[in-house]
Amino acid sequence: MPIIEGKRKRCLSLTLTSDIYLKNFLAKGPAMKSMNLVMCSIIGYVGVKDVAQILLDGLERLEYRGYDSAGITGLKDGTFTSVKQLGRVKNLSNAIKPSMNFGNLGIGHTRWATHGKVSVKNAHPHVSFHGLFSIVHNGVIENYESIKQYLAKQGYKFYSETDTEVLVNLIEYHFRKEPDSENRFLVSVQKALLHVRGTYGIAVLCKNNPEEMVIARKSSPLIIGIGKNEMFVASDACAFVAYTKNVVYLNDGELAHITCSDFSITTMKNETIDAVKCELDWKVEDVSRGEHEHFMLKEICEQPISIENAMRGRFSDDLSTAKFGGLQLLPRELRQIDRILFCACGTAWHACLVAEYLIEKYARIPVEVAYSSEFRYGNVPLDKNTLVFIVSQSGETLDSLAALQESKRKGYRTLAITNAIGSTIARESEGGIYQHSGPEIGVASTKAFTAQLCIVAMLALLFGRLHNMGFDEGSEFVQSLLELPKKISQILDKKDEIQRIAKKYANCKDMLFLGRQSMFPIALEGALKLKEISYIHAEGYPAAEMKHGPIALISEQCPCVFLATQKDIWQKNISNIQEVKARNAKIVVVASEGHQISPDHIDDLMEIPDTHDALKPILATIPLQLFAYYIAKARGCDIDKPRNLAKSVTVE
Ligand code: AGP
Repeated sequence: MPIIEGKRKRCLSLTLTSDIYLKNFLAKGPAMKSMNLVMCSIIGYVGVKDVAQILLDGLERLEYRGYDSAGITGLKDGTFTSVKQLGRVKNLSNAIKPSMNFGNLGIGHTRWATHGKVSVKNAHPHVSFHGLFSIVHNGVIENYESIKQYLAKQGYKFYSETDTEVLVNLIEYHFRKEPDSENRFLVSVQKALLHVRGTYGIAVLCKNNPEEMVIARKSSPLIIGIGKNEMFVASDACAFVAYTKNVVYLNDGELAHITCSDFSITTMKNETIDAVKCELDWKVEDVSRGEHEHFMLKEICEQPISIENAMRGRFSDDLSTAKFGGLQLLPRELRQIDRILFCACGTAWHACLVAEYLIEKYARIPVEVAYSSEFRYGNVPLDKNTLVFIVSQSGETLDSLAALQESKRKGYRTLAITNAIGSTIARESEGGIYQHSGPEIGVASTKAFTAQLCIVAMLALLFGRLHNMGFDEGSEFVQSLLELPKKISQILDKKDEIQRIAKKYANCKDMLFLGRQSMFPIALEGALKLKEISYIHAEGYPAAEMKHGPIALISEQCPCVFLATQKDIWQKNISNIQEVKARNAKIVVVASEGHQISPDHIDDLMEIPDTHDALKPILATIPLQLFAYYIAKARGCDIDKPRNLAKSVTVE
């Protein structure tokens, strides 16, 4: 990430002169570049309660992220007590003996192996060679091999294969060289991190400072939870939301020194930072599965509420247009915008494609959509009145953050649409729109996606009303938006029927999803949901593109899902359906009530209530989510923790 890289270099030249030998050594040493998804989780606590219980509780709440081992360390009376286990957090709890006293300060971690195999030795927390420090780490230290060689020459021995153990030893190395002072712990972490290339979220304990913790972040989220006489840290606030909702998000390049009653934030150069506190609007129920078998199903079922939350307070008094205070733009300024660019990844990118259809149709403003990863390294020519939206549920996706920074660097007004209040993308943007979907725990995005669709439909309404959309048309649009929660509930009421249909397709190997206009991105999303959680190969296409290539795949073994919800292109969809039927493929259709599809042409039908054309993408998404969910369930897949996927992708 160019901007952050630049910052790191400035820090190095300013502060490393005190350690010229290590600096020279590292300059020669190899950097091991690795790319992975960050799935590990961090929790830390300092306070008055039994730390083991809090750490285990936090790790359980973060289980959905996927991991292969877990561990905790407590610091009491100058002694570290650690337990690490392979597999589930439950194994970890079972391994804790009543005689163990972890005290009131500790750190915990769930690990997804990157450097070194899955083993107890490689599990976190790691302790330094002289036993002074314990650490948990998310991310990848790219130059760990050269640091390891250097430390080995200084007599350090290593017991694991991890980059993390190298980091904790580097901290200890600096600590032992640092003169005794009030800040020795913090300064040692700072100095160690200045030598490190890569990404990290870390929480560190030091035996000599038995009431303190130091944390630091670069490209891997860390949040401080402020309680009464207790402090929490976590890579995801879900871990501690049962205890406190008052949080501070750490920025890249920042460290925090934390005690049970206070914390202070500094940069690598030891400049003090004023903490920005915010309050999470989550409930404890939001982060537990409740009566549902999976978070994904729970979140699908929450959509009547999440859509209502996305709209709340965002209509004009006369109910003829939308309003978004967070845009921080006057109607006059909004009118001057003559191009909009949306950047996102994955599911959020699909929401942006819907935005393109809707804003161009209802507001006649040209819209471009870019993958964040492409935008950041490309050179898209944009004119000066371009507005840029970065869309990201988590607000932490590295590629989207980099796209935001690149857009700001180029001087465009850059706003965010995100679900995560106080996330990095929210903080670094110049304004934007919160989704208010509540925490989304399932790796496969569901309610966050439909909230994004709702927001982009409202943007189309807002821009449309500023240009050529009249009062009546605007009022009808608003009315349809207000009716959405009820209509989503009607679809959810039919979930048993969708499950019955899904079971019929659970054994197929390939599937095509086809739709026209704003249904094309929904076809992409339907295919993505299916492949993410059921591992069935699926692709989405504009329905008419089928005959330009994908039709070659069509056979009895490759079912097609048609999104045929629009009246104006009804006949076109029917023709495509017939082309596929003629090649013996099974056909599943999502259609609006009142359709005229003959049962002879199709195998299965999933009906949705009729609605405004701009909102059909929202309603058509719900049966596809349920369809993917029930297929994955029938195949016995680990739905909330699909293989190889992470909820937020904080590496390139
Ligand atoms: C969605 O089901 C995916 N897991 C993934 O594509 C996701 O949408 C993408 O990684 C972007 O995440 P973000 O919205 O948090 O930026």
